[in-house]
Amino acid sequence: MITRMKNSLLGAAKGWRLHPPVSGRSWRPSWLAPDYPLHPEAGLHPHSDEEKAKLFMAADPGSTEIETLNWLHATVCLTKASSLLETGSAMGLGTIALASACRDNGFGKVHSIEIDPGLCEQISLTLKQHGLADYAEMHCMDSRDFLRTTNLVFDFGFFDSLCELRAEEYEICLDRGILRGVAAFHDTSPYRPRSMPQCSPSVHEDYRARLEKLADDARCSGHFENILSRGLFVIFPKQAI
Ligand SMILES: C[S@@+](CC[C@H](N)C(=O)[O-])C[C@H]1O[C@@H](n2cnc3c(N)ncnc32)[C@H](O)[C@@H]1O
Repeated sequence: MITRMKNSLLGAAKGWRLHPPVSGRSWRPSWLAPDYPLHPEAGLHPHSDEEKAKLFMAADPGSTEIETLNWLHATVCLTKASSLLETGSAMGLGTIALASACRDNGFGKVHSIEIDPGLCEQISLTLKQHGLADYAEMHCMDSRDFLRTTNLVFDFGFFDSLCELRAEEYEICLDRGILRGVAAFHDTSPYRPRSMPQCSPSVHEDYRARLEKLADDARCSGHFENILSRGLFVIFPKQAI
């Protein structure tokens, strides 16, 4: 509440129009503090035309698109998930979107697993600065080690570490029964290897094939896929919560 008021006052004082329109729009989500400048996604990553990247925006090359982050925020507000998982935190934008959703619901916490100690330290500081420390906990370790040993159970998962690890992370969750809700996987657009030379076609095909197989698993009830921008693949649990 205090943070939202602070953001509104800051926004009013600085003027929301301080940020020039990005990708032809002045829109930015209300949960995102005004100190994050936004950029057109098409200027941050190469894309093929099918991905319509001109219509998307992001804060920096290492962070998830704002539209995807806003979907995460809205989905947590809709499903009232209380215990959230994020694998791979980078600059903490996903953690902020999810922690803000917990704050906006009035309950819940995101457990974000990041292997880089420097990033963990920086994100913990950022969360504090944004008044979100009560809604997020950083775990500085390998995501697979964390998932194999944690006693926590999650209602929502955002899988965003390395593409080659994400299906395995989800398999651990399914085998251990520690994810009861929706699982969202980033960077799944089938066009990524075509436009991004550093994205190996075989690794990407394997990532997508494993997710499609997992979506058909008896413990799941199907999937939804958005192929725009970097892409998002969402698997639903058998019994939706
Ligand atoms: C794509 S970025 C995450 C972006 C972030 N989730 C967001 O929404 O802006 C991937 C992150 O995963 C981290 N990472 C890589 N391997 C990992 C592992 N085995 N366990 C946990 N984190 C890992 C990297 O250090 C990097 O910060």
